[in-house]
Amino acid sequence: MALSALVEQAIERTLLDEQTIQRRVVELAAQISSDYADVDNVVLVGVLKGSFIFLADLARHLDVPHSVDFIALSSYNRGTVSYGAVRLIMDTRSSITDQHVLIVEDIVDTGYTLDYLMRNFEARRPASLRTCTLLSKPDRREVDVHVDYLGFEIPDVWVVGYGLDYANRFRTLPYIAALRRDVYEKE
Ligand code: IMP
Ligand code: MG
Repeated sequence: MALSALVEQAIERTLLDEQTIQRRVVELAAQISSDYADVDNVVLVGVLKGSFIFLADLARHLDVPHSVDFIALSSYNRGTVSYGAVRLIMDTRSSITDQHVLIVEDIVDTGYTLDYLMRNFEARRPASLRTCTLLSKPDRREVDVHVDYLGFEIPDVWVVGYGLDYANRFRTLPYIAALRRDVYEKE
């Protein structure tokens, strides 16, 4: 089956089109570049897999010296249901101690993932630690987490595209779209 046909079947509507996302990414990069203007190096730590496209675009608009690293987390998900238990399954390649670290995430939903990550990273004594998240679903928050740089607030719907997936599909769509409820609520 063609991917376009699959998209046609599963997607309800576009929430954020490509141009809107790109414009916001440029704004975020400008803000980050200005805030870190006096820093030697910013370590961008992307949370795999969801952040890979956002991080790639954001990093290419930064005007501060930076390096890129990744971590992978597993959050005991079944489809769209998260159970709040988070586990580190791949750590950064380089130590973050004494580094200026900016965590780059795709979305904050309940907040468990980012909360876990902040605690885990704080313990390693970075020089500074901030968070940049493309999306946030404030209605779904269960733990209060601070986001320093936020792209967009969105309603409580399951979104795909621009790195975000449903069952590992749709990550590479250039826009962000809401999945049809009957697709993810039939579990
Ligand atoms: P949290 O721990 O509940 O904040 O969930 C964070 C993780 O759940 C994100 O990093 C995503 O991987 C995933 N997630 C939450 N909502 C969505 C969504 O609408 N689409 C795709 N992934 C999502
Ligand atoms: Mg994620």
